[in-house]
Amino acid sequence: MRVVIHGLTKEYVTGKWKIRALGGVSLEVRDREFFGVIGPTGCGKTTLLNIVAGLQTPTHGSVEFVGEKRTRAMVSMVFQDAALMPWRTVDRNVPLGPEFRGDPKPVYHRITQFFLEMVRLLDFGSAHPDELSGGMKQKVALARALANDPEVILMDEPFANLDAQTRLLLREELLRIWERDKKTVLLVTHNIEEAVMLCDRIAVMSAAPGVIKNVIAVDVRRPRTLKSMSDPDFVRCLEKIWDLLRYEVDKAMRENHPSADPNRQETQPRKTFFDWW
Ligand SMILES: Nc1ncnc2c1ncn2[C@@H]1O[C@H](COP(=O)(O)OP(=O)(O)O)[C@@H](O)[C@H]1O
Ligand SMILES: [Mg+2]
Repeated sequence: MRVVIHGLTKEYVTGKWKIRALGGVSLEVRDREFFGVIGPTGCGKTTLLNIVAGLQTPTHGSVEFVGEKRTRAMVSMVFQDAALMPWRTVDRNVPLGPEFRGDPKPVYHRITQFFLEMVRLLDFGSAHPDELSGGMKQKVALARALANDPEVILMDEPFANLDAQTRLLLREELLRIWERDKKTVLLVTHNIEEAVMLCDRIAVMSAAPGVIKNVIAVDVRRPRTLKSMSDPDFVRCLEKIWDLLRYEVDKAMRENHPSADPNRQETQPRKTFFDWW
């Protein structure tokens, strides 16, 4: 399934501020491609992904899924915080998609076992989310996304809240799983290393209002492991992306303060001292 994103813009109006989060994003994710979008914090990555998922509507632009539908679900999303249902055990969190679609219990039970084994959490089926570490929760969220058997998986900084070692391990785990059954993946992240490690191509986004500055092909051999990070092609790609991003990160930091942000336009004229007087 291809994802064709055309001219997406998004403006948020909150109180007296109008915030331009997306400034016209166009890109195309190919069938079974692992595609990354990288950009500084606040550039509109989550907004972009939510629009693709259908959770938010754009101000302008369109998202189209092109291709023959092979499975019953169009998209699954993996959020930054695992977003599990705390009252459900792990083996009742994983099969949410099949269960809500009305699959019979033996079927979704089998699916659950299959994907829990895939993320190596078979022994934790009867645990509740609050009994798990952050990394384990994200693995459950990944198993849940896979169990839904979607055409496209959307990932919003899935490993950003984890410690560095867990993050490395989960990247490897994700690669191992993706190599087995290549789905179309759209991942957004602010982590360059993560993007290069996982993706076939990476779009570099500007600071808000986000637009795509460049799309870079990652010519690092697959299958990739932690060792790929010392591959000269890996390092070259990392440097190339950093060169493109550096200015944007700097800009995002400088404009962190609302009053310094040119994208925030006041919806009402600001009252001056004399208006109050
Ligand atoms: N619901 C919302 N209401 C108002 N402003 C929002 C909302 N969601 C995001 N924004 C603003 O839009 C911009 C982009 O946010 P977001 O998409 O979360 O960026 P990212 O995920 O890249 O950090 C930010 O300036 C953020 O403050
Ligand atoms: Mg975000």
